[in-house]
Amino acid sequence: MIPCQRHLFDIPDDVTYLNCAYTSPLMKPALDAGIAGFARKAHPWELASDEYFSGSDEFRATAAQIVGGSADCIAIVPSASYGIATAARNLPVKRGQSILVLAEQFPSNYYAWQRRAEETGASLKVATWPEDNDWTAAVLNALTADVAIAALPHVQWTSGGRLDLVRIGEACRKLGAGLVLDLTQSLGALPFSVRDVQPDFAVAASYKWLLGPYSIGLLYVAPKWQEGMALEENWIHRANARDFSSLILYTRNYDAGARRFDMGERSNFALLPAAVRAMKQLLEWDVAQISETVGALNHQLAEAAADLGFSAPAEPLRAPHYLALRRKAAIPKELPEMLAREKVFVSVRGSSIRVTPHLYNSAEDGERLIACLRRIAAQKTTA
Ligand SMILES: Cc1ncc(COP(=O)(O)O)c(C=O)c1O
Repeated sequence: MIPCQRHLFDIPDDVTYLNCAYTSPLMKPALDAGIAGFARKAHPWELASDEYFSGSDEFRATAAQIVGGSADCIAIVPSASYGIATAARNLPVKRGQSILVLAEQFPSNYYAWQRRAEETGASLKVATWPEDNDWTAAVLNALTADVAIAALPHVQWTSGGRLDLVRIGEACRKLGAGLVLDLTQSLGALPFSVRDVQPDFAVAASYKWLLGPYSIGLLYVAPKWQEGMALEENWIHRANARDFSSLILYTRNYDAGARRFDMGERSNFALLPAAVRAMKQLLEWDVAQISETVGALNHQLAEAAADLGFSAPAEPLRAPHYLALRRKAAIPKELPEMLAREKVFVSVRGSSIRVTPHLYNSAEDGERLIACLRRIAAQKTTA
């Protein structure tokens, strides 16, 4: 178990922030790295041309350690939707085939497939919400011969339901279906390895469980797709980019690996160092340890919430870091505001209260949430 790491964050004592799935707080060392990078623009004469490459390559190397792959397989993207659009542009799908998504999948991993299906005459197939909370079985049942692409998360974002991606990856390979993953609600908090799962593309925005800034993320591209078509044609993607004096000697050759899929102006001198610093901290803590520590906190919370009439799927069907509490009576939409008045921060998504702690939370944070829920429940009964 990792001891509480609140000292690394700027969270006042009276704030209970249980909303990492919404956006994580930037830890102080990552904030410092970002500020230092932003300040560099004040002295552009100190910026060497090779720094347009070195910062990006450090991001790639660190992100590669997080996904268990090689740096050459990592592209730098601004959002999950950018990575999904890249995958949708490159994976083949034909009329009569289908693209598999989950019920209530996050829109950034839905709309691109909806459009691709419309453009190609394929159909969108939705794995229905499993009554028994077994999303893996729901996906395996839906993986029939018509599926050309499965576009999935590791954790279903409204329920916290966990998918067994190793089994799903195997099933996709057997079928010859492509596997595209949106890991935004899991990478950094739930162990994952491209070696075990073998996806074709996998994307994660940095600003949630990677504890990084907004507008930056990583895209893993399997070697077999690295000759594919990028969304943009940018000078820095090309093989001659390091020689600034010869950029107009246009070349059809790209830089190595997945670099052709980088977004334009990928060498962001503020966002990249902040994202790298946060990922290095995650690696030092170790993702399996993070999962276990945050999972223990959620376990306690789930038990206490059960006494108030809330339920959540049990592990391993639920991801340890992600608790979605439901109850028979509807959850008031204004609950987050009611809790925020007490400086307790959670989200309501669908019909659940989404409670997503991280290492900056302690058992006291859990107790404060439960005390608030108990008070609110009592107010409702007496009103
Ligand atoms: C599952 C999931 N994917 C992606 C995102 C963010 O998408 P994008 O980076 O395209 O804005 C979110 C944000 O809540 C999310 O929950």
